[in-house]
Amino acid sequence: MRQQTDASKSALNISNLSVSYGRIEALKRINMQIKEGEIVAILGANGAGKSSLLRAISGLVSPSGGEIQSYGKVISNVPAEKLVSRGIVQSPEGRQIFFDLSVEDNLIAGGFTVSAAERKKNLSMVYERFPILGKRAKQIAGTLSGGEQQMLAIGRALMANPKILLLDEPSLGLAPLIVRDIFSIVQSLNAQGVTVVLVEQNAKQSLKIANYAYVLEVGSVSIEGPADELLRDERVIDAYLGKG
Ligand SMILES: Nc1ncnc2c1ncn2[C@@H]1O[C@H](COP(=O)(O)OP(=O)(O)O)[C@@H](O)[C@H]1O
Ligand SMILES: [Mg+2]
Repeated sequence: MRQQTDASKSALNISNLSVSYGRIEALKRINMQIKEGEIVAILGANGAGKSSLLRAISGLVSPSGGEIQSYGKVISNVPAEKLVSRGIVQSPEGRQIFFDLSVEDNLIAGGFTVSAAERKKNLSMVYERFPILGKRAKQIAGTLSGGEQQMLAIGRALMANPKILLLDEPSLGLAPLIVRDIFSIVQSLNAQGVTVVLVEQNAKQSLKIANYAYVLEVGSVSIEGPADELLRDERVIDAYLGKG
């Protein structure tokens, strides 16, 4: 298991976490540590429990067992909106933007936990980072391309001043060139100090930008290690890197 740092210093410390939906056990007593300033990749096939993990961290599902701490404080069972104001922000799978609202209204909705002044400042910051969103500010979000919608989903998360950003399959369904853009956005956010938990099917690109990675298999951690080691791990190559 991962060399433990003082739990009070890790951005997230997950111990024996279980998540169930009725009789389905999506996560079975998993342990993870995410250190401040890292990109940690979570890999695994469909149904492995990746989204359940992010939903548990962000307070959208209650664990059926175990505990999640952030900087030494227990956060499992803290309501989702409280966690957002503490800087734990998720950009959900499938983007889940408001398709009928304008780009700008989507972004404003993402800033619900910050003051009006901060919201204004963050909006300029998002438009600076994603000029295309500025250009399309008044456009209805549902009419954006897939890549633009993903940028909007990330931009919306940035409106809340994330310290820990949880990204659920941000590259899903995007063309290779756009995928590259999304990964470089993740890298640059991280370079500015945002800790990132990156759930991805795109294993190779994720491992290339991550510090550490966990592989989930049917609700359990099957492999973990520094990302550069996993890139060379036979089991990971066979199951997740293959030809790509
Ligand atoms: N709301 C839900 N109700 C019932 N079962 C669910 C629900 N969400 C996920 N599951 C089940 O939990 C398991 C893990 O799902 P999920 O966390 O979405 O995995 P992943 O994101 O890795 O594809 C799967 O067996 C899935 O069918
Ligand atoms: Mg998922």
